[in-house]
Formats: sequence, structure tokens, C-alpha cells
Amino acid sequence: MSNTIKLSIGKAKLQINDKTAELPIIQGSDGGLGVDIATLRAQTGAIIYDNGFNNTTSTLSGISYINGESGILRYRGYAIEDLVHYASYREVAYLMVNGKLPTLKEANQFSAYLTEHSMIDEDMHHFFAGFPRTSHPMAILAAMVTSLSSFYPEIAHDDVNFTITAARLISKVRTIAAFSYKKSRGLPVVYPQAHLSYVENFLNMMFNTPNRPYNIKSEENQLYVNILDKLLILHADHGQNCSTTAVKLVGSTQANLYAAVSAGICALWGPLHGGANQAVIEMLENIKEDGGNVEKYIENAKNKDYRLMGFGHALYKSYDPRATLAKELLDDFLSKCSISEPLFEIAQELERRVLSDDYFIERKLYPNIDFYTGIIYKALGIPTNMLTVMFVLGRLPGWIAQWRELMGYGIKIFRPRQIYIGPGAVEYVKMEDRV
Ligand code: SDX
Repeated sequence: MSNTIKLSIGKAKLQINDKTAELPIIQGSDGGLGVDIATLRAQTGAIIYDNGFNNTTSTLSGISYINGESGILRYRGYAIEDLVHYASYREVAYLMVNGKLPTLKEANQFSAYLTEHSMIDEDMHHFFAGFPRTSHPMAILAAMVTSLSSFYPEIAHDDVNFTITAARLISKVRTIAAFSYKKSRGLPVVYPQAHLSYVENFLNMMFNTPNRPYNIKSEENQLYVNILDKLLILHADHGQNCSTTAVKLVGSTQANLYAAVSAGICALWGPLHGGANQAVIEMLENIKEDGGNVEKYIENAKNKDYRLMGFGHALYKSYDPRATLAKELLDDFLSKCSISEPLFEIAQELERRVLSDDYFIERKLYPNIDFYTGIIYKALGIPTNMLTVMFVLGRLPGWIAQWRELMGYGIKIFRPRQIYIGPGAVEYVKMEDRV
């Protein structure tokens, strides 16, 4: 499968009343077909209505390949299973941004950039003070990322300098995330260390405190480092999902990368999207408090009183391959750390019941990436309100890559039309004459 597009492999005809539009059919490198409707309105006066954009696109992308029917996900052609089993997050971040896996020399240079740019400007510490301690870390993260444009106003697009820009953003967002956690606990921040890796630094900044020893290099903590590295790979990109579309929508106005990423953070926050991992833990904890009464939640979902968080997907009408990998990682982690996590038992029972219930089978509702990842983060000691922040850390290389790909296409501002359902012309009535 080459990274190509056949601009027109034929014509589609669409008849609307007495007009017939002839529209080019385009084909992607995976054989996927699209109808280019750029001239539909000129030919027929009509536009296409697609609630939620689930059947339309404005994007040609070569970054992620998703086959929702078969449950396949590839980043730049590499199977997600291979990347999780054999690659590291720094390799995958480099792959996202540069379109190829790094050589050892390139990977070490990327790590050096991550280390060099791991600190945030000391003036940014004052920003944390302005947030109430109860602030959601996603609110802090979105604001802090936008403020980075004040410190780094220029973005060069040549490979070397853009790789540095990407490493800077990936590294600083990790530091901001850990700092926001410490600030929310009223604890002193721990600074990044040059001798630690990206993930080691994150966990050290999160859990090291002045009053108790914390050895990130211990055998148990290295298990934590390894599984977190894999989790970040699982989240690195996923085509034109809602938050990536938000990044590109803002990017299409030629707003800077930091503003675009901040928009992605805000979109990811919602419980129907990245916020689902937090909602899954809250749901499982409610079931646990209910004495493990899975049945009640299943019935509530079937009565539409409630959505089972972590189930269903706009694209995957089969098992999300990332959920399979997350469950595998969780199983392995719990057995190695000899941790028993009651939420895992509840999650497995809930999954078993859902996958055997016609209501969910008919709607092709399977566990998605958020169903098991939240349990892993909880087992790592990461608090529930930080779970969507963890999604940001994983997804950031994909957002950066998608933004760069958009910049490379010769940007067209995103400006969807509408089907107007409001009133016709209405005459203005003065205030004193209104009843
Ligand atoms: C992510 O797009 C991406 O790639 C996102 C993501 C990424 O990597 O970026 O993969 C990450 O966001 C994963 C999804 C996390 N969200 C959740 O787990 C929230 C719970 N799931 C949903 O609300 C829902 O499944 C969506 C939003 C994920 C997908 O919704 P769809 O495919 O648009 O389905 P729909 O809303 O049209 O519902 C179809 C039917 C409806 O029933 P009927 O009206 O046909 O009777 O399925 C039902 C829905 O009520 N349904 C659910 C359900 N999800 C859909 N019923 C119960 N529980 C659910 N979770």
C-alpha cells in the first residue's frame, strides 16, 4: 500500500430533482473510495448533510490507517501490535512526526531534544498559582499549552527544527502535567532530570517527594515505566478523531501549533471522547460500591438511561485492537506486580456480559481503548482526574503530525456549510411596541 491517491477513477452521478451532478470518484492507497463533492452545489444547488461527519471527510492523510470492520490500526503502515510489542514511545513519537522509524542515532538525538527542552520557563510557575487547587488538570494543561506560544512564537518547518519543536512540546507538556498534579496536592514540584528518560521523568516528577525515598530505577518502578511507555504508544494517533479534527480546524486558520493543540486538549476532555477513561473508572467504582451489580448498569444502558463508558466506537464495529492490547498489558502487569485490582474483575465481568448480550451485539458495541487503560493508570497510582491528561501525553505526537501534514497540503480553512432551519425574514419591532 503506497502513500498515494488516485484523484479520479471514474464519475459518480447524483440526480437531484431535474439536475444531475457528475462527481469525481477518488481512491486512497488502501482502496478506500470517496466522492469529491466540490462541484455538487454548483451543479445542483444542494450540499451534503452528514450529522457528526461520520461519513464525510475533508482530509487526505497518510498517518494512521484504521479498518473499523476488521479491527486494524497502523501508524505510518506499522501495525499497532508490533509497535506496542517492540517499539518505544520515543520511536513512535519520532515516527509520527517524521514519517519513519528513527535510526539509533536519530532516536538518541530525539531523546537529547526531549531532555534539553524538559524544563518550563520559571515564569510559567506563576500561572499555576492562579488556578484553584480543585482545578481539573485538563483546564490547566489547555491554558499552559496556549501560553507556550508566548515563549516560542516561531515555528520552523524544516525537518530538523520541526523535530526540535515537536520534542519541545512533547517534553514540556509532560512536565506541565506532572507539575499540575503536584500543585493540586499542594506539594513542591520535582524537576526533570537529564539522566532519566521521558517516562522515567514523568513518574519521578509525579511520585518523588522530598520526605520519602523514591527510586525510579527500582525493578518495580521500571515495570511501571515499561507499561506506561506502551500505553502512550497505544494513544499516539487515531485518524481524524474529534480532538485531532479540533487541532486541524484551528490549524486551518493558520493559528499557531500551540493554539491548535490547546483546542485538541479541550475537545479530548469530553466524556464521549478522551474523558471516557475517567468516566470508565467512575463507572466501575460505582458498580463496585453497588456490590459489583453489573446487571443493573447493563439494564440502565439498555433502557438508555446510561451509556456504558469504554464501550462502542464511531469506527470500530469490532473489538478495538488497542483494547485487546491494553487488556493484555493490564493482565501481564497485575501478574508481575502481584497486585489484585477489584476493578479489573468487575471490568472483565462487565465485558463478558456485554459481549454476550444481543442488545450490544446488534449495535456492535465492544470495549474501546478507554475501557482498560483507566484501570492500568489507576494501578500505577495515577489519580482519576489525571487520566485524560495521560491520553494527551500519548496523543500529542499524533496531533503534531496531523497539524504538520495539514500545513503541508496548502491549507484551506475549515468552513462547513449548514442546512438552515430558522425563520424567514422577520420585521424589526421597537422595544416599546413589543408585547
Ligand atoms: C475515543 O474517534 C476516535 O477515534 C476516538 C478515540 C481516539 O483514539 O481518538 O478512539 C478515543 O474517544 C474512544 C470512545 C470513548 N468514548 C466512550 O467510551 C463513551 C461511550 N461510547 C459512546 O458514547 C459511543 O459509543 C461513541 C460516542 C464512542 C460512538 O458513538 P456512535 O458510534 O456514534 O454510536 P451512536 O451514538 O450513533 O449510537 C448507536 C447506538 C445507539 O442506540 P440506538 O439509538 O441505535 O438504539 O448504540 C448505542 C446508542 O444508544 N450506544 C451505546 C453506547 N454507545 C452507543 N449504548 C450504551 N453504551 C454505549 N457506550
